[in-house]
Amino acid sequence: MASPQRKILVTSALPYANGPIHLGHMLEYIQTDIWSRFQKLRGHHCTYVCADDAHGTPIMLKAQQLGMTPEQMIAEVAKEHQADFAEFQIGFDNYHSTHSEENREFASLIYTRLNDAGYIKTNTISQLFDPEKEMFLPDRFVKGTCPKCDSDDQNGDNCDNCGATYSPTDLKNPKSVVSGATPILRDSEHFFFDLPAFKEMLQAWTRSGSLQEEMANKLQEWFEQGLQKWDISRDKPYFGFDIPGTNGEKFFYVWLDAPIGYMGSFKNLCDKRDDLNFDDYFKADSDAELYHFIGKDIIYFHSLFWPAMLDGAGFRKPTSVYAHGYVTVNGAKMSKSRGTFIKARTYLDHLNPEYLRYYYAAKLNNRIDDLDLNLEDFTQRVNSDVVGKLVNIASRTAGFISKRFDGKLSEQVDAPELLAEFQAAQDSIAECYEGREFSRAMREIMALADKANGYIADMAPWQLVKQDGQEDKAHQVCSMGIHLFRILMIYLKPVLPQMASDVEAFLGSELTWDGINTTLTGHGINKFKPLIQRVETDKVAAMVDASKENLVVEAPKAPAAEAEGDNDELAKDPIADTVSFDDFMKVDLRVARIAKAEHVEKAKKLLKLQLDLGGETKQVFAGIKSAYAPEDLEGRLTVMVANLAPREMKFGVSEGMVLAAGPGKDELYILSPDSGAKPGMRIK
Ligand code: MSP
Ligand code: ZN
Repeated sequence: MASPQRKILVTSALPYANGPIHLGHMLEYIQTDIWSRFQKLRGHHCTYVCADDAHGTPIMLKAQQLGMTPEQMIAEVAKEHQADFAEFQIGFDNYHSTHSEENREFASLIYTRLNDAGYIKTNTISQLFDPEKEMFLPDRFVKGTCPKCDSDDQNGDNCDNCGATYSPTDLKNPKSVVSGATPILRDSEHFFFDLPAFKEMLQAWTRSGSLQEEMANKLQEWFEQGLQKWDISRDKPYFGFDIPGTNGEKFFYVWLDAPIGYMGSFKNLCDKRDDLNFDDYFKADSDAELYHFIGKDIIYFHSLFWPAMLDGAGFRKPTSVYAHGYVTVNGAKMSKSRGTFIKARTYLDHLNPEYLRYYYAAKLNNRIDDLDLNLEDFTQRVNSDVVGKLVNIASRTAGFISKRFDGKLSEQVDAPELLAEFQAAQDSIAECYEGREFSRAMREIMALADKANGYIADMAPWQLVKQDGQEDKAHQVCSMGIHLFRILMIYLKPVLPQMASDVEAFLGSELTWDGINTTLTGHGINKFKPLIQRVETDKVAAMVDASKENLVVEAPKAPAAEAEGDNDELAKDPIADTVSFDDFMKVDLRVARIAKAEHVEKAKKLLKLQLDLGGETKQVFAGIKSAYAPEDLEGRLTVMVANLAPREMKFGVSEGMVLAAGPGKDELYILSPDSGAKPGMRIK
């Protein structure tokens, strides 16, 4: 190894345990995974940990809605998250949960040390309280009339209509989103972390040089605006860790123990591994490197609160925090109605995960700009680069080696200069990976692939093999193709781990960074099998369609992110955690008789239903095919949403939605009214 072995600990932000992983999240996990795999490929001691972020009000309320304990819910979600990550080849060394013993211990330890050092202050604040539910309401759980423009049904902290921001106590006619009750003001003592005391330390850390320029500028703005003390406590009931010394009355705010979850997960791993020592990585003067990969929405937490908490409690600070932008799909925010809110699972049902890994790599740089997943560009880019350029090199040459040359590569290298050029690219490509300039790395690699293809086209081994006396030259040319392909696959191993492993089997040789400087002359290889299929446009279309097929209301259902703090994903997410009573009353639920049920040609999930509402008939496409045969449905009563705006689907117009429960697929249960109910009756 050229450089001495580094000790590196890498993390991705911990996904909330109340919703599925989607392709926006995947940008972060793929970015971090490529970087971590690159470090490992270079021989460094790199460790990549993550966990589910399991605490907070939304998770508590969601579990209640589902009739589960929070522990049950987070256990189910943990399984789903980890299955998704595994299929996308995210190579975590450990995946844990913030609701763990390790995390409880570190949260207590850090809090106690901060408290002992005088960094925790108390203050009584007045907050809206739901008298029915007997709980304090986070801003997003209060709705009411905007104090500025009088528009109804606005959020507790800002107005969608006029853009005003305010405190929930300013709302006119406020209502609790949880119970519909009118909240009252109530006092409570809260604990505050003295962030302003860390201003100088944070300024010095910002100038230490390893932060992105955009992030350093953002921090500079925040310093100028002035730092505020941070409220780290919440009253019961709350799903989280109780604060030591408060008799179970007060809990740590989810964002206090969330980043500590990085330590918790790492400690959990250290206890399983002999080569890792926790203190070695987290003591104040540690020589290990610590990097957090995050999205742009959570910079404040990671660049101010987190380093200050670590510093105040006598631990080391992060070497750097790397933020990325947000994923848009086809140029717009991911949208459920357009079918561009694509869950990791839906993607995996239709497409190879390595397509997305390559596409994101080809677009990622080290800045905080948003990244567009344009599905046409995705198809074209993957087909042209991975299939057309990269795999083509092997598929045009490997067959001859097996068929004509006994599966053995030639003893001589046909084009030493070309080989040297491929080898010489290693420093520049390594620099790109190290600096998170993945798109530049992909461009350099594909430029080399073009050269390899140019060489093969010029030499035309398919003609040489037909010419007398050119047998040996043909052998050398095809072998040369394999040497070049092998180097490209070493460069791409962090991005395409599955394909790299298939290529290792084909070559009968491991792809290592040191291997760039060697060639497999005289080496026997195995029969070449197709490495990857082209991206098919109809599969992409089917994935988008499946993302639209939300015709069946399933439980547990879609994402609802943390509603407190600066992470405002809930505000941006079209499916909210809770709806107001008034909103709910807008839904026209009716008893319906299934007059007719039939298969839809080519549809995998859908049945076409004619629903009789006692006079009126509506046509609905429902995703219940795997659970019900049409003949079992005809004649029975069910419950439908009758005033859903008609939607144009691939197979026709759908004019409503039937209600069903269950995890989906073949476990799905349609709702039925008790006997006596008549078609058309309204459900109240
Ligand atoms: N639980 C917190 C993080 C705690 S870290 C101590 C959280 N969770 S999240 O599930 O909402 O997001 C997890 C990560 O995914 C965050 O870094 C977030 O920025 C990122 N993304 C979520 N949606 C995204 C896109 N649409 N695009 C890119 N990244 C996105 O925040
Ligand atoms: Zn307003």
